[in-house]
Amino acid sequence: MTSSLTIQRPDDWHVHLRDGAILRAVLPETARHFGRALIMPNLLPPMVTLQDAKAYRLRILDALPEGADFTPLMTLYLTENTDAKDVKAAYASGMVNAVKLYPAGATTNSASGVADINNVSQVLEVMSEIGMPLCVHGEVTDPEVDIFDREARFIDTVLAPLRRRFPGLRIVLEHVTTKQGVEFVQNSNANLAATITTHHLILDRNDIFKGGIRPHYYCLPIAKRALHRAALRRAATSGDKRFFLGTDSAPHLDPTKESACGCAGIFSASNTMACLAQVFEDENALPKLEAFTSLSGPAFYGLAPNPGTLTLTKGTALPPLAPIATDDGPITVFDPGFPLCWHVNT
Ligand code: DOR
Ligand code: ZN
Repeated sequence: MTSSLTIQRPDDWHVHLRDGAILRAVLPETARHFGRALIMPNLLPPMVTLQDAKAYRLRILDALPEGADFTPLMTLYLTENTDAKDVKAAYASGMVNAVKLYPAGATTNSASGVADINNVSQVLEVMSEIGMPLCVHGEVTDPEVDIFDREARFIDTVLAPLRRRFPGLRIVLEHVTTKQGVEFVQNSNANLAATITTHHLILDRNDIFKGGIRPHYYCLPIAKRALHRAALRRAATSGDKRFFLGTDSAPHLDPTKESACGCAGIFSASNTMACLAQVFEDENALPKLEAFTSLSGPAFYGLAPNPGTLTLTKGTALPPLAPIATDDGPITVFDPGFPLCWHVNT
């Protein structure tokens, strides 16, 4: 039985750090284990331009604990008014690694997103030319479509046509949650990848309602049936380079989740690596953990793996983590529903 595992230092290819007091409280949680993270731009107002991204990056660097070894990789929030020249300059600057597409109204702070993908063709054209990745929140927003079908519908009606129109565009289907999504990526080529979150490898939709409504398990895309979680687990543990970790760790203050209309988002930065080690062990796939967390993501983004390593050791079960305290209030940490016996040596 493996009791210790050393891997290249991991990266998180999809994380929400927010700003101000929340940023200061959650950033150390990500920087403790991850060498780099791709920072989502859905702030209020959103980070749309290179100038926005530069200023936000400085605020992140400023919030880093003394001596932390962490590099934020920035994204731009795509709007129907995004300037293709600014996107090109952002990528050339080396500070911005991707553009994020939120279908307008799909999720938290997505009101400024894209209502009609045909209105951003010029930007997508330029991104194809320069090889800049487009990170996609893959859900349709039509309220007529059942919430559990929104990703599959997006793949059929938006992603497949987009791939045909821009075959050279490098796309990441973010936080894939369905068998259909996994298969769509598997049947595609190296220009299409997908991130998988920690919580979607652990939860199925029943967990949201186990014994009562569980607001801390509510996220978007919403967790699906167990058969979809099984497909995600197979993809994550397969070693296929097109599937890599994006935690979608998304902090919300507890009162905004434990509410009559709670926010979507699960905060998992603190225990993601311990959760993943357990999932990979349960799948008899511990040797594949490094590809998922540390190698396949950098390969897609054209970067070298992080220098340095991270060691996990198996020991006694750790007590559940207390909520993270911020100056604005507490943020509950993801409860995987099983004991965490893998300890991350830091
Ligand atoms: O659950 C989610 N939370 N899904 C998203 O797409 C956005 C995120 C957030 O920003 O809170
Ligand atoms: Zn997200």
